[in-house]
Amino acid sequence: MDSSNSWLLSRVLVRLVAGALGGVVGYWLGLHLGYPVALGIALGAASVLALSISDTLKGHQLLDWLRNPEDPLPQLPGIWAEVAHRVQRVLHLRDDAIAHERARLDEFLSAIEASPHGVLLLDATDHITWVSAAAADHFGLDRQRDLQQRVTNLIRQPAFVQYLAAGDFREPVKVPVSRGGQTWLQLHLQVYGDGLKLLQSQDITERERADTMRRDFVANVSHEIRTPLTVLNGFIETLGALPLTEVERKRVIGLMAQQAERMQGLVADLLTLAQIEGSPRPASGRWVRVAALLQRIETDARGLSRERHPITVLFEPSEQATEVSGIESEWLSAMGNLVSNAVRYTPAGQPIEVRWARLPDGAGEFSVRDHGIGIDAEHIPRLTERFYRVDGSRSRDTGGTGLGLSIVKHVVQRHGGELKITSEKGKGSVFTLHVPAVRVRRA
Ligand SMILES: Nc1ncnc2c1ncn2[C@@H]1O[C@H](COP(=O)(O)OP(=O)(O)OP(=O)(O)O)[C@@H](O)[C@H]1O
Ligand SMILES: [Mg+2]
Repeated sequence: MDSSNSWLLSRVLVRLVAGALGGVVGYWLGLHLGYPVALGIALGAASVLALSISDTLKGHQLLDWLRNPEDPLPQLPGIWAEVAHRVQRVLHLRDDAIAHERARLDEFLSAIEASPHGVLLLDATDHITWVSAAAADHFGLDRQRDLQQRVTNLIRQPAFVQYLAAGDFREPVKVPVSRGGQTWLQLHLQVYGDGLKLLQSQDITERERADTMRRDFVANVSHEIRTPLTVLNGFIETLGALPLTEVERKRVIGLMAQQAERMQGLVADLLTLAQIEGSPRPASGRWVRVAALLQRIETDARGLSRERHPITVLFEPSEQATEVSGIESEWLSAMGNLVSNAVRYTPAGQPIEVRWARLPDGAGEFSVRDHGIGIDAEHIPRLTERFYRVDGSRSRDTGGTGLGLSIVKHVVQRHGGELKITSEKGKGSVFTLHVPAVRVRRA
């Protein structure tokens, strides 16, 4: 017999015994007072009733506590105490299970939050039920306030609205959003459960930018090569079709050589760019004497200028022994580019100054100052972009492709330095290479 049955039996027995005892006492009293049978039945029934009332009261006490199970357990006798303890244990087990599940859910949500991709959960009617921090950031949503809103009320980009309406979610969709500047998100919907949806968002702005840059780069290179090739072709046709005098022939061949040289320059610049982009950061253990660099720069500058500009190279005698660390050919290329620009964009007769100076903190500065055509402020931030030229036709006349300064910037950044440009239209420019103190020493 199990404990609940024995409990039931004991309650019944207790009532029977109490009823019988009450009956006997009533009958005995009745013998003295009259009506023994009636009094016996009455007292017997009263005893059973009293026990029932007492049980009801204890049951009520237990029920009261169950309504507020956080209150302390009521003091109950015997079997009622056991009932109360068993109920309390069940409640504790349930609380523990809920806490465990909640902790697992929190862990699960933290894992979703740890991903750089945004996650947004939608119910079957496309209302938002949960938003991860990344998704809130991607779409500019408020994680609390925007719950239960229809998703298309908050994400209104036509590409997304169409994607959701079309119902074909095999491929993701690219959507432009403006969050303080144009960014691109890739959105992918997955249907799960009973018509529920999971929307994943990924910031692909960098990837899009890189794609655009690659496309632009190829287009620019093709364009730069096509122009001289077209010119060359024209000359070749002329040479083949027309009888030219010796003077004309020399002129045409001179012009052809110019175009070929331009293409050669472009290819050389592209190779330099590819080479510095593909090689590791220059080690700081190789040292080059600044005075030697300056001497070579000066020779090249005079060669380019062909006596058209007064060129001065200035540095303190104490800097004779100064060295900079890094790759000699890259420093030469960066400094040489600045000097060749100065020569190219300065009218004959105007002076050009090349200077090396040490700053109080030990850093070095190589600067080229010219008094040439100068540059409008609006162009300055873009000068180091590949193929950027202020005035395409003028620069092309001088043989420029717009790669020079992007090579300079790249080289300086690889060496931990910085390119600074100040210029005024019509007055002239100063281009400065800032070399950090760790890359400058006295030999
Ligand atoms: N010293 C300068 N004075 C005026 N404009 C300059 C000067 N240096 C550069 N620029 C402007 O900046 C543009 C970009 O210069 P960059 O050296 O990158 O290209 P480039 O000289 O045209 O061609 P490349 O150097 O590749 O042969 C030039 O086209 C020119 O318009
Ligand atoms: Mg240049």
